[in-house]
Amino acid sequence: MKRAQFASSFGVIAVTVGSAVGLGNIWRFPYEAGSNGGGAFLLLNVLFVFLIGVPVVAAEFVIGRYTGLSVRSAFKKLAPGEAWNLIGYTGLAGAILILGFYSVVAGWTMEYIFESLRGFGGVESVEGLHGRFDAFASDTWKPLLWTLLFLSANFIVLIRGVAGGIEKASNFLMPLLFLILLAFAINSFTLDKASEGLKFLFHPDLSKLTGTSVLDAMGQAFFSLSVGMGCLITYASYFKRDTPLVKTSVITASLDTFVAILSGIIIFPAVFTFGQEPAAGPKLVFEVLPSIFCHMTGGMIWSTLFFILLFVASLTSTLSICEVSIAYMVDELNMKRTKAVIITILIGIALASLCSLSFGPLSDIRIAGRNIFDMFDFAASNVLLPIGGMLVSIYVGFKMDRMIVKSELLKGEKSAAMRGFVRFIIFSLRWICPGAIGLVFLFGLGIF
Ligand code: PHE
Repeated sequence: MKRAQFASSFGVIAVTVGSAVGLGNIWRFPYEAGSNGGGAFLLLNVLFVFLIGVPVVAAEFVIGRYTGLSVRSAFKKLAPGEAWNLIGYTGLAGAILILGFYSVVAGWTMEYIFESLRGFGGVESVEGLHGRFDAFASDTWKPLLWTLLFLSANFIVLIRGVAGGIEKASNFLMPLLFLILLAFAINSFTLDKASEGLKFLFHPDLSKLTGTSVLDAMGQAFFSLSVGMGCLITYASYFKRDTPLVKTSVITASLDTFVAILSGIIIFPAVFTFGQEPAAGPKLVFEVLPSIFCHMTGGMIWSTLFFILLFVASLTSTLSICEVSIAYMVDELNMKRTKAVIITILIGIALASLCSLSFGPLSDIRIAGRNIFDMFDFAASNVLLPIGGMLVSIYVGFKMDRMIVKSELLKGEKSAAMRGFVRFIIFSLRWICPGAIGLVFLFGLGIF
């Protein structure tokens, strides 16, 4: 069967940005920045995105487009029997773990769409709103049901295939998302303690950084760019021959970073205005945002819109996560797409249920101090994705035929700036990425 392709160049950007922009930017970035000193974390994150992230994104694109295959099959073709094939498995494992915890948070956003419509039951105080979130997240059934519903929404889009389902949905939803975020960011400047919040986000206080915050900033960069688990290899296998890979990487990374900064601009002024704690962890966005909405005119309409948007952003990301496993089963196991979609969603349901219950009945299960949800996030973002990114950079930087890499990177690239950038990408893949990722990794895990 002929391989599916994304239909337009707008579609390529929409699906790639759709994968990158998600809960990682709007939910994960603010709480990671909040727990790691704000500005210093942002600075490190931006450095990681552009010095390491963009080159690895481009390298994944090269592998995917050149082989026209998903992650496991691509390495089987490029380096049969060699250790590089490990990337196929770290990628799959990462995808499945991320699908598990991500679907839970996406489920929370669905509950919050309805909470907004109900006006948060008339509760307006910060304590009251915290209590409502805690009671919801630790409940056994409610979050679980939303998670299941969210995975069913994935099923409905995925079953329609690549161009028909994923691309069509992203073309329409991604531009809408940008517009709504921009409106919220502008509103943020009118809050009482806007300047304190903006200072926290933009003023880097390097003394706040520890070994783990450096690892967190790198994990956040990988997670947010959807890189290191073969997701972009899989997407690039659906690119056309003349899709410009470097331009697509740079646009994706820039928009992705822009959205993370926007959500910081939305969250931190509110954190300070309403006297909340920037280091509140995964609940931050769900506790802080309702406080803003309760103090805005027409707040509940804005709130409903915001959570719809967050739901949409999550959906376009999980579609790409599921695609890693679906394409694996189709390419590698010769399975029909429908069957592969069903199996992937069932695995998602099993793991997401564990993560959801880890806030309630399973909260006593702790691994190295983390509950199941946090453990899945840590193992995927801070361990599997960096390992995947390091292997991809070494493979494309040193092992893959230099002429192929260059010609893939230059294809369709019309601007002189992007063509010049190719040299930096190759340099970084060889001399910056492997060493930097390795060092941060050992340092962050406390081995160094
Ligand atoms: N980048 C997505 C986000 O920021 C999450 C993701 C990670 C998607 C890995 C695909 C692969 O929400």
